[in-house]
Amino acid sequence: MRKLVAGNWKMNGTRADLSELQAIVQAHPAPGVDIVICPPATLLFQAAQMTAGHAPDIGAQDCHPAASGAHTGDISAPMIADTGATAVIVGHSERRETYNETNDLIHAKASAAHASGLIAIICVGETLAERDAGQTLQVIGDQLAGSTPDGATSTNTVIAYEPVWAIGTGKIPTLDQIGEVHDFIREFLTARLESAALDLRILYGGSVKPTNAAEIFAVPNVDGALVGGASLSNADFTPIIKALEATF
Ligand code: PGA
Repeated sequence: MRKLVAGNWKMNGTRADLSELQAIVQAHPAPGVDIVICPPATLLFQAAQMTAGHAPDIGAQDCHPAASGAHTGDISAPMIADTGATAVIVGHSERRETYNETNDLIHAKASAAHASGLIAIICVGETLAERDAGQTLQVIGDQLAGSTPDGATSTNTVIAYEPVWAIGTGKIPTLDQIGEVHDFIREFLTARLESAALDLRILYGGSVKPTNAAEIFAVPNVDGALVGGASLSNADFTPIIKALEATF
């Protein structure tokens, strides 16, 4: 399995910030892991052109489940594929929370991504209240069951475990807690998808930094990371990529 570091720029970045993407391109002429950068939709086309034939790959941060239609402000999976991007994040907790996105909707978005040949990076994660109530594995199981299409395979799907309370806070779960959830996700996917899930990459996300990446990557069944804040600059992102490369 080729491990993966994905960077989620969220609502950050104008064309001037593509200089950071250029720096990432130059820093990784032949990376030992897969790299995906998910800039805002306004930069997808230019980012995909800038990285054509090189790492990183480019992904979007969301898509509408329909291919086209009267959906003001949305972008569809075929439109994302048309930019040259090859992946899309679906079900990020910021969208589950802010836009009340349900597992059914995320399932439809992931299916739309697959239909357009995009890798769906499906996010799951518990809130702090759910963790404190001992509901973490129940919540993750429900989100996985509801949001993962039956056609998910290791080539068209990535799961990102992102505890909501660890995103952008500087807090991370203990390594045992991360391991418990990643083992659970691996067992869940294997029971549901059988051999198609064997090499399906399970990323950890939430306050991954150059300082904690190596210890997180040493946890079994952690196949990489989904990185927010630290993906905005090459200076922070490259050490995280190098930490994953060093796990071989
Ligand atoms: P963070 O965000 O690395 O800034 O915590 C992670 C994410 O939301 O994907």
